[in-house]
Amino acid sequence: TPRVFSGIQPSGDLHLGNYLGALKRFADAQDKGVQSIYCMVDLHAITVPQNPADLKRSTRELAAGFIASGVSPEKSILINQSQVPEHAQLAWIFNCVARMGWMGRMTQWKDKAGKNAEAASLGLFAYPALMAADILIYHATHVPVGEDQKQHLELTRDIAAKFNHDYGVDFFPITEPVIEGAATRVMSLRDGAKKMSKSDPSDASRINLTDDADTIAKKIRKAKTDPDALPSEVEGLKDRPEARNLVNIYAGLNDQTVEQVLADHGGQQFGTFKPALAELAVSKIAPISTEMARLMSDVTEIDRLLAHGAEQAREISAPILKKTYEIVGMVG
Ligand code: TYM
Repeated sequence: TPRVFSGIQPSGDLHLGNYLGALKRFADAQDKGVQSIYCMVDLHAITVPQNPADLKRSTRELAAGFIASGVSPEKSILINQSQVPEHAQLAWIFNCVARMGWMGRMTQWKDKAGKNAEAASLGLFAYPALMAADILIYHATHVPVGEDQKQHLELTRDIAAKFNHDYGVDFFPITEPVIEGAATRVMSLRDGAKKMSKSDPSDASRINLTDDADTIAKKIRKAKTDPDALPSEVEGLKDRPEARNLVNIYAGLNDQTVEQVLADHGGQQFGTFKPALAELAVSKIAPISTEMARLMSDVTEIDRLLAHGAEQAREISAPILKKTYEIVGMVG
């Protein structure tokens, strides 16, 4: 049976990339009748230093971000990773299945550890094994993510296959990454060659889900572009990364294909297209920011929802962990 799982790190503000690449797609998919589990991955967040009070606030704010984006705790199971201990327990087993060489080849590891890998945490190195555990502790079959997670999901498949092979079982499913739509790789508003990211020092490079209407409009007005009009065909966006990015964002926000956006806006100068995009972005994002603030005014309700989600999730995860331990040969 199909089952969906995906996760987001509670570190820093949610941005438009998280929304279009992940949250909006989760919300859009939840009426398809497939059981879905969405997770704030606090254990992943601490692979780099986190201030404890900020981590707590970010985790609750992320829960609010999920709900405000339309992910309903009634239709989906919404959890915080550390509240479902089976994730970390399965991750240990996977630490013993995955190979050092596999981890060392991850581009995120290389980027984040940088030149000083000796000083990086062991958790940062093992990050993808925990991610595989997040997914496989539910036998999830489909994982909607942005493009930057593709390599990690290939590793998840490798871990499942090696476990099955080593123990001679057909137990963990080989998960399908779901990377679909116009905006699975939203780029910085200041540099079309860089991914939109919470770690970019320039706040103008991204639209945060907590930005108000004026800020959103201003960031779009100031977004980097080239001097040419928009083309009417997709091929015309080749070698125009900033133009392509704004068109992708428009398409993602408006549930259109890039072709449709160009059919409507091809020939326009950015002086015309940017205000249209700003209006669209404000109409979609500003209400999320308002709703997040409202939800954050009652954190006990958020905590209650997460506790309930953890209970639901453990009904699935506990039997799968038990079976895994049996396969591995643990007495219990
Ligand atoms: P994270 O927290 O960096 O990002 C959360 C989701 O947002 C997507 N995303 C983007 N999509 C489009 N354009 C962008 N600029 C952009 N930036 C981020 C990401 O692809 C992701 O879907 N390792 C994961 C969290 C994780 C996870 C998992 C995901 C932990 N366990 C299991 C799936 C399944 C991460 O750091 O995502």
